[in-house]
Amino acid sequence: MKLQRLLLIALLLSTTFSLSAQIKWTQVAPGVWKGIIGKPEAYDLVKAGGAKANTAAIAKITAAQFPLMQGDILGAVKDGKTTLRFPLDKEEQLYGFGLNFQSVHQRGKILQLHVDHYGGKDNGRTHAPTPFYVSSKGYGVFVNSARYINVYAGSGIRKNAKTPPVEKDRNTDKSWASRPYSDAVEMLVPAAGVEVYVFAGPTPMDAVKRFNLFNGGGPLPPRWGLGFTQRVKSLYTSDEVAKEVDLFEEKGFPLDFVGLEPGWQSKAYPGTFEWDKKRYPQPEKFVKQMLDKGIRLNLWINPYVSKSAPFYPAIKPYTGSHTVWVGEVPDFNVPQARKIFFDQLQKDQVNIGVSGYKIDEVDGYDHYLWPDVATFPSGISAEQMRQTYGMLAMRYSADMYRKQNKRTYGLVRANNGGGVSLPYVIYNDYYNHQDFITALINSGTAGVLWTPEVRASKTGEEWLRRFQTVIFSPMAMINAWSSGTKPWSYPEVADQVKELALLRMQMMPYWYSEFAKYHFEGTPPFRGMALEAGFKQEVKKEAGSTNLEENPYAEATSKEIKDQYMAGEYLLVAPLFMGDTTRKVILPKGKWYDFYTGAFAGDGSVITVTPGLNKIPVYVKDGGIIPMMKPMLHAPKAGEKVDLEIRHYGTAASTYNLYDDDGETYNYEKGDYSWRQIKVTRDASGNLAGTIADAQAGKPNTVGNVTFKFMTK
Ligand code: GAL
Repeated sequence: MKLQRLLLIALLLSTTFSLSAQIKWTQVAPGVWKGIIGKPEAYDLVKAGGAKANTAAIAKITAAQFPLMQGDILGAVKDGKTTLRFPLDKEEQLYGFGLNFQSVHQRGKILQLHVDHYGGKDNGRTHAPTPFYVSSKGYGVFVNSARYINVYAGSGIRKNAKTPPVEKDRNTDKSWASRPYSDAVEMLVPAAGVEVYVFAGPTPMDAVKRFNLFNGGGPLPPRWGLGFTQRVKSLYTSDEVAKEVDLFEEKGFPLDFVGLEPGWQSKAYPGTFEWDKKRYPQPEKFVKQMLDKGIRLNLWINPYVSKSAPFYPAIKPYTGSHTVWVGEVPDFNVPQARKIFFDQLQKDQVNIGVSGYKIDEVDGYDHYLWPDVATFPSGISAEQMRQTYGMLAMRYSADMYRKQNKRTYGLVRANNGGGVSLPYVIYNDYYNHQDFITALINSGTAGVLWTPEVRASKTGEEWLRRFQTVIFSPMAMINAWSSGTKPWSYPEVADQVKELALLRMQMMPYWYSEFAKYHFEGTPPFRGMALEAGFKQEVKKEAGSTNLEENPYAEATSKEIKDQYMAGEYLLVAPLFMGDTTRKVILPKGKWYDFYTGAFAGDGSVITVTPGLNKIPVYVKDGGIIPMMKPMLHAPKAGEKVDLEIRHYGTAASTYNLYDDDGETYNYEKGDYSWRQIKVTRDASGNLAGTIADAQAGKPNTVGNVTFKFMTK
């Protein structure tokens, strides 16, 4: 009896202790704190990504204190697992937890963060289930674990909650809720310890920037990566590719790189990683012929190795216990595996001028990927491998280009926290246009890039609507691997498509500078409204209050906004989808102007627009400066001087930092770049006038003649 009582006391003590352990926080960069719970595992997301934090850039963000009450954050290890608890305020909203496709608001969600293809539900299984969230209160939290993390983002209610919900009687009280209020985010990490990071604001955007910079900053694509790309039909031959490339030229459609799908390889699913000699009899000559026309090639792969691959016997000892489509899975955590695998790509493809890869099927589907019982020679578990395999493949493939001092820009189907700086854009097969836009919004808080790729469409209208959004995204792409479509495949809208593709090219100086801001400052080029200064999410009022109806802006922003997004510093994009003729656009506080005409559009208001089929509504913030160039068919070559037409919108005097470098190499890492300030001021007679700072001596300078265009009359 006595013993039993003692045991009970011990049990109670241990529970109390394990639930209430406070975390010791160490500042690792200005406004970034690390907390350690238990014994973190040797392998984690940051290690797999391999990036170095850009602490100097983090230091330039407004200084901030630890953003929460440290005593409110708890962590404990029990049963070989780590529990975490972070506080939540009543009016707080959460964004993040990876690349979700259907929801932006994450408060109240229960998720298991698990790398997978997107299966139609925001349940944590996605291409980039980044364990990072940002709060509307202006701070961020990152759990650096390569495990499947269970997240209760404000759903569990502790007995000892600081602000517990009130008990209600369902029999009589209509306000009874099946999901009562919770004041905490809780997480379960299946490991006996973990490293957690807290990022200060003061704004949500500042927290996101710190997170991105902590992971090395975003990638800086080569200029050509921001041009147009066409992925051709899977079994195309080199002659067919060459013909298609000529058609682009003849028809005056821009094209910077062409994607070859599985048919470039002598075998696929699993692959041999060597050219198919029937379809591509002279790869070297072909790649050169394309490069001479200003066209680069990107090759589809998935990393699963066929017995017919030339390096199969060599890599066999360094592959996992299970196969994928009967191909062996190289363990990229083993240096020999990396060397054997990437040496093949390097000598057979990269060295002859192939510009990059599309790394497919590194995300999942459970039915073909290795199961969680698989083992790998490095000793890294199957689960950790699943969470990081995309990152590893991106990292070590990008290294091949780094060795040659050439940038790459490719595609991938899985990423995770730690992979922010890798030069790849996520895509998938899901093809829901609306949800593709929601993913574009969420990419901004997941530390990844995402393309709403265009494949085929039922109608010309759908084709054009999809095309309009891919032009305002990180990668302007048609993926015709199966459909064989071309930009002009829907003749009734071919002119409009061409105009859009050329607009993408004209905006290259803007896109390039915005990606430089992602790299150097951590600002995601594509993101949701919640990160926008001037946008304030209004809180839903209790039933009975008429307050919201009187204020349409408050009413609109009290809801989740899933269909409009920010593109770079100054642009707000509000797409229309098939069947739509009209839509509402929420313009944050501050004046906004029509991108095409310069006309005033609204200020802290909700407008209804009927743009017609040919236009995607785009708005520019007051003082918006958009540097544009002429509509070239290929990105400017390294060092090529380009004339700029700098557009200014609205009435405000303002500035814009234009980024410049050679556009192709990593020399910017050694300081070979410049930021040139564009300035629009009002002269004595009240007229707007623009200037651009002189090029710095010894720095890259690709700016030719500059003219200013004041769009708002
Ligand atoms: C899919 C991929 C497509 C295409 C196809 C080729 O997994 O998402 O974009 O590459 O494979 O087999």
